[in-house]
Amino acid sequence: MKQLHTLAARTLKIVDCLTDHRRNAALRMQVGAIHIDHSKQRLDAAVWQALLALAETRQVSQGIARMFAGEKINHTEGRAVLHVALRAPAGNYVVDGKNILPEVHAVQARMRAMTEEIQSGAWRGVSGQKIERVINIGIGGSDLGPRMVCTALNAHTPMRLDTRFVANVDPTDLALALRGADPHRTLFVVTSKTFTTTETLMNAQAARAWLQATLGEDVGRHFVAISAFPERAAAFGIPPAQVLPMWDWVGGRYSLWSAVGLPIALAFGYEVFAELLAGAHLMDEHVRQQQLNMAVQMALIAHWNSDYLGASSQLVIPYSEALARLPAFLQQLELESNGKRVNHQGELIQSSVPALWGEVGSNSQHAFFQWLHQGTQIAPVDFIVLKQQAGLSRAQTQTLNANALAQARALMLGQTHADPHREFPGNRPSSMIVLDSLNAHSLGQLIALYEHKVLVQGILWGINSFDQFGVELGKAIANQIVPVLQKNAAAESKIAEFDDSTQHLLHILAAAGVD
Ligand code: F6P
Repeated sequence: MKQLHTLAARTLKIVDCLTDHRRNAALRMQVGAIHIDHSKQRLDAAVWQALLALAETRQVSQGIARMFAGEKINHTEGRAVLHVALRAPAGNYVVDGKNILPEVHAVQARMRAMTEEIQSGAWRGVSGQKIERVINIGIGGSDLGPRMVCTALNAHTPMRLDTRFVANVDPTDLALALRGADPHRTLFVVTSKTFTTTETLMNAQAARAWLQATLGEDVGRHFVAISAFPERAAAFGIPPAQVLPMWDWVGGRYSLWSAVGLPIALAFGYEVFAELLAGAHLMDEHVRQQQLNMAVQMALIAHWNSDYLGASSQLVIPYSEALARLPAFLQQLELESNGKRVNHQGELIQSSVPALWGEVGSNSQHAFFQWLHQGTQIAPVDFIVLKQQAGLSRAQTQTLNANALAQARALMLGQTHADPHREFPGNRPSSMIVLDSLNAHSLGQLIALYEHKVLVQGILWGINSFDQFGVELGKAIANQIVPVLQKNAAAESKIAEFDDSTQHLLHILAAAGVD
């Protein structure tokens, strides 16, 4: 794409680009409850045309269609990628010649029934008491999505059941979630697609021991499991009727729409979960039907920033406390999906996804915005603002939104000053994402939008966005190290096989911890 490199070599000023009203209009879009304005990005009409041509060359539309058609686009694992089927009310989503929707809807019916049973109190613990606290045990995609959604919606709708999340293998996480909990009235949802994840299994065992200390041996009634391997959950001692399935065509980081979303339904009611699905489906249909859709627009701009302007970070700054967990969720979504270094053919590629990070505004202004404004790197920002926020007055909403607008404008305009310490270079790009309000429906749209952005980015780079082999090596080495630290004689005899640095640290850490 020589032309894009030539275009990137120019010194383009965002403020100058903004005088082109046709270009500005092309960089704005409204879908459902989401309005996006990319006009403060550092690109002009010529760049935009070249990016649209790139989308054609890279066959973005065909790539999107392949996902919806259930093709095994996760070719390294031989899997289809059909999280979109989880939010489809009707249609034909085919895997291996079979429409998967009837099975999806059957599991949703079980989720609904289970939710109603638990919320109404028909579901009793072993001593006949109603459930009051729900603790989800899971990590990565089995935690971040439902946790983020519950945090977001809790600001809007009070939880019907006190729903908490435990992910870390550090037992402090579980201990904090158990503070004030009554074993008679606590239900654990063990969420693990594989049901082999060390952190989750250790936490589930600790949870079981905590229940058994008060309730006796038989505590199965206090567990629900979500897994693609129900037999493994059954082997853990969870009755099969309390195990909800998921499928290999749903990636962990795309799984909050499956039974992995059960904590969302338990916290707010199944109808709220259904609204989330409906919002996502609205975005799916937009992306499926419109060639130049909101996700393609976002992905092309992100591609320009990373591959042509050299941005090594992407920031997400929601001006909403309710969206506090969104950056952490997007981190897994974008980085586990597109943190790759080879293309489909296994050849090395020059660039892939920049680091994604962020924090709520206005807190982040007082933390790392100095770096954004005057640091040596350029990091594009997605500002997220809401027209209305639950529990906030008009004036309070205005304060938040004024801050977001001011930061975006300051990044773009900069400030000339005789004193270089007080000078702001400006010309720093950002996009503004405006949500009508935050509810399950609009949140579903927003999450699905980022999911599709990730898909399109992957198509542009020619990579498989849906495997995650990069997390395996560290897990395998941890399994070698644990027995050494536990002073297992056989493992200790192999200590010399470790490199000098690891051996040095193993000696220091061998005595760590208290019994
Ligand atoms: O971190 C790696 C990973 O495999 C993620 O992709 C996944 O979301 C997480 O672990 C949890 O996996 P599981 O749901 O199988 O416990």
